[in-house]
Amino acid sequence: MRLNGKTALITGGGGGIGRETARLFAREGACVIIADYDAARARLVADEIAASGGDAAAIQVDVSNPESVERMAAQALSSSGGVDILINNAGITRDRMLSKLSRREWQEVIDVNLSGVFHCTQALVPQMIERGSGKIINTASIVGVHGNIGQTNYAAAKAGVIGMTKTWAKELGPKGIQVNAVAPGFIETPMIDTVPEKVIAKLRESIPLRRLGKPLDVAWAYLFLASAESDYINGTVLEVDGGLVI
Ligand code: CAA
Ligand code: NAI
Repeated sequence: MRLNGKTALITGGGGGIGRETARLFAREGACVIIADYDAARARLVADEIAASGGDAAAIQVDVSNPESVERMAAQALSSSGGVDILINNAGITRDRMLSKLSRREWQEVIDVNLSGVFHCTQALVPQMIERGSGKIINTASIVGVHGNIGQTNYAAAKAGVIGMTKTWAKELGPKGIQVNAVAPGFIETPMIDTVPEKVIAKLRESIPLRRLGKPLDVAWAYLFLASAESDYINGTVLEVDGGLVI
């Protein structure tokens, strides 16, 4: 029960990695708030956790919209004593080669994957500062470290997430708040459904562990960074990718 007495808010908590994380955190004793654009999926995950004896709530949010995020933060704080752990996990892709990438596809990914992380952190950090503690975990990607064909927008956003993580580690560390990032490789969730089969086949061969990741592989990394076991880790980017270098 590593997270006993803690409240964790997980954005994108209705999706592949988010759902597995919410379930794991609930098993570890946390009260989990599942915040997702898709209200029905968030509700489903919360109900599933409640049915197995866990403590969970669902909130609809569009992380790209600062007003929606403010409402999420107010709702989360009124239903809990405070949010101890924030997992900035919501994300989307709009993959396209640079020559064909539209301004809209560029902007959508920047708004959700980069600005969304900024909005949620800015909304929830003041109450962490007040209490002098908190753990923020941002979801980057190995694409933000190494780049990837067809992902100009996504790579830019995820590299930006790494930059914000390192900046906030410096700004917020002295206030008792740790900020780290997880950079997953290719994980079996709906997000990779759009990747052509030939690309997946090539990738699988270049992963030293010879398999794609599972949502739980990432959830364990989030758990480590959310628990007291990582109390002296700040500003790091933990790669969870089976050793893949793309
Ligand atoms: N590695 C190697 N080659 C690749 C490649 C990759 N990742 N992606 C595309 N290519 C190659 C194709 O094989 C093709 O080569 P040939 O011309 O020799 O056949 C060439 O680039 C052009 O590709 P397409 O014919 O597919 O071009 P398109 O315009 O129809 O589609 C695309 C372009 C939308 C980028 C499509 O190729 C694609 O979806 N690629 C995969 C992008 C990807 O890896 N996305 C990851 C999503 S999951 C995620 O984002 C999570 C995370 O953090 C890792
Ligand atoms: P997913 O598509 O299964 O889940 C993403 C969730 O985010 C969905 O439930 C979706 O409704 C929610 N979401 C999308 N836009 C939102 C918005 N504007 N506001 C609130 N919620 C929103 O994808 P997955 O794989 O679970 O992704 C989780 C995170 O992990 C993302 O940040 C993704 O970029 C990252 N990631 C995923 C990898 C993979 O291979 N699956 C690899 C590396 C990083």
